[in-house]
Formats: sequence, structure tokens, C-alpha cells
Amino acid sequence: MPKLLVTGSSGLIGSEVALYFHQVGWAIDGIDNNQRAVFFGPQGDTRWNQHRLAAAIPGFVHHELDIRDRAKVLELVKAVRPDAIVHTAAQPSHDRAAAIPFDDFDTNAVGTLNLLEAVRRACPEAPFVHMSTNKVYGDAPNLLALAELPTRWDYADPAYAHGIAETFTIDQSKHSLFGASKVAADVMVQEYGRYFNLPTCCLRGGCLTGPNHSGVELHGFLSYLVKCNLEDREYKVFGYKGKQVRDNIHSLDVARFMHAFVEAPRSGEVYNLGGGKANSCSILEAFKLTEKFSGKAQIYTYLDQNRAGDHICYYSDLRKMRAHYPKWDITKSLETTIGEIVAAWRKRLVTD
Ligand SMILES: NC(=O)c1ccc[n+]([C@@H]2O[C@H](COP(=O)([O-])OP(=O)(O)OC[C@H]3O[C@@H](n4cnc5c(N)ncnc54)[C@H](O)[C@@H]3O)[C@@H](O)[C@H]2O)c1
Repeated sequence: MPKLLVTGSSGLIGSEVALYFHQVGWAIDGIDNNQRAVFFGPQGDTRWNQHRLAAAIPGFVHHELDIRDRAKVLELVKAVRPDAIVHTAAQPSHDRAAAIPFDDFDTNAVGTLNLLEAVRRACPEAPFVHMSTNKVYGDAPNLLALAELPTRWDYADPAYAHGIAETFTIDQSKHSLFGASKVAADVMVQEYGRYFNLPTCCLRGGCLTGPNHSGVELHGFLSYLVKCNLEDREYKVFGYKGKQVRDNIHSLDVARFMHAFVEAPRSGEVYNLGGGKANSCSILEAFKLTEKFSGKAQIYTYLDQNRAGDHICYYSDLRKMRAHYPKWDITKSLETTIGEIVAAWRKRLVTD
């Protein structure tokens, strides 16, 4: 049985990836130290998800390890010798990073280097999939000409009709400290591909979401928005008239792409992994969709000040992914995804 090592296995993407690879016949080792609860407080606690994996995956091995601990990472990868690595452990919030710059950089950049070097020494043939982010583009997408539509912003230039492609500049823009630490990791993952010829790829995620997200105000907007709706809590909209656009991809479709890459890896590749235009929505549109499933009106306040470096309009151009992996495509529409998030929060809020 091939063996997958997933970092951040108790998180949204890590847990989905663990379950997906288990279902297609892989043995799973996970690394997670519940750092999300340290970053975001008890609301970000992911232990429930760790227990869910232990119950759902026979033989699942959980490693309570901090990826910043270089010696232990080297030791663990040598002992496990995985056939593939999916690296999702991270400090994932751009707003949070400014308050904890050392923790952010040490986790996102140094933690990634620890893993890459451990893999190069122990199992250089193993595909290494890195979860990067569209924040590597900084706020450069905000410089594009935009059209204001009744409920959303959109690109005015037809050159961006399909969204932002991987060739977009990552340089000379404001990233947030989080974006900058993720750029360091992204370039290092590419370098281990190009310089050492390791089968690596960076997936520059748009909004990754799904029913198992522990959404908090600072990270996981759709999950958090749905939670606010169900609990009659006020959601704060930060600037851009609430028309800011994000593309949303269900974590299952993320896992499916990772599997496609692991089966036919390339070296030093970069993909923009999001929901694309079809799965994009503005905050105002997300309210409407959520209300449709929950039957409750969304309570919100509007604050003029946008979040520093926040994208006004971002959706991923999926054409490179589809060209390299023609059997992969989005299978979960935005509506289906929101419906699943509503159902999942209903269940979790009752049992919490
Ligand atoms: N969710 C999104 O919308 C989104 C968008 C773009 C990119 N990404 C990227 O995808 C990846 C996964 O995101 P997610 O939404 O699943 O995040 P998440 O916070 O749900 O999961 C990350 C997991 O990593 C663990 N972790 C954090 N630091 C650790 C450390 N030092 N050692 C061991 N474990 C640690 C956390 O406890 C958590 O369970 C991240 O790299 C993130 O930057 C996410």
C-alpha cells in the first residue's frame, strides 16, 4: 500500500486529503500539533477533526509534531519514508501574521524548507505537493481595470476573462507578512523542483472551503459567514462595498487535483487552484446564497476600511490545470458547497 504523509492533517485541506487518499487505497500518516488553536484561540481548535480521521481511517498514524522542529522533521520523514507528501500545515491568515511575524515565517517558510530538505534526503522520488496561496500575487490584481456590476466587481479587460493565470507577477506589491512568507515557501518548492529535480508543485489556492472548515473571522470566509448566519451573529464586511469577489473551491476538488498530480507528477510546477469564474461570488452574493439554504436573513455591518492588501476581485484561471490534467475538473458547484457548509454547521453547532 503506498503511503502518504500529510502535514496539517487536522486542518480543512489536510483532513480532506487524508480521507480522499485513504479511499483510493493509500496508508495515511498525518502531522499536526493543533497550532490552529494557538493561532486563533479555541474557535480554531482542530482536535475534533483529528479524532474524526482516527475514527474514519483504519491504521491512521497521527504525529503530534511541530514542523518548525527541524531535527524531528528530518527524523520523522526518514522513518516514515512516504511515497508522496502533501504539505498543508501553515499559519493561514494574512491578518493574523502581522501580530506573530516570527511564528508566521517560521511555520510557513522555514517549516516548508524543513520538509523539502527532509524529503530530498530520505525520499527524493516522492511527489511533494505544496499548498500555496493566491496571496503570493500580493495586491497586484487590484491594479487591474475593474468594472462595477450591481453586486460584484469584475475584470474590465477581456485578457482576464478567464481569471488570473500563473504568469501573473508576484513581485513589487503589498502581500501582507503572510503573503510574503508564503512567497518564500512557494519559490523554495519550485527551486527544489528546478534545482534538485524533485517532483514538486505549488498550488496557489483561491478560497478553499468545505463542510469541515473551522472558519473564524480571520480565516475561512465562507465557513465563517455561514456560521454567523446560522447563529444570528453579525458579519463584518470590510470595504469594497461588499462586492469583493473570491473564487471558491470545495476541498474535495482540491484533494482530487492533488491525487492527479501525485499519479503523474511534474517538476517545479505552479497552478492556480481555485473555483474559477463559475464558482466565484462577492460577499453580497454569498449572503444571498446562504440565506437560500438557511432560510435566515444575514445580519451584517459594513466598515469602510478594507483589509490591508485584500483582493477586490480575484478568480483563478483554471486552464493550465485542465490542460495538464484533463481528467480533473471542478465537480462541486458553489451552490452545492454552500449547501454542504450550512448542513455541516447545523450539525456541529448542535453537538458543540
Ligand atoms: N483555506 C483557504 O481558503 C486557503 C486559501 C489559500 C491557501 N490556503 C493554504 O492551504 C493550506 C491549508 O489551509 P487550511 O485552510 O486547511 O488551514 P487550516 O488552518 O485549517 O489547517 C492547517 C493545519 O496545520 C496545522 N499547523 C499549523 N502550524 C503547524 C505547525 N507548526 N506544525 C504542525 N501543524 C501545524 C494546524 O493546526 C491546522 O490543523 C495552508 O497552506 C493555507 O495557506 C488555504
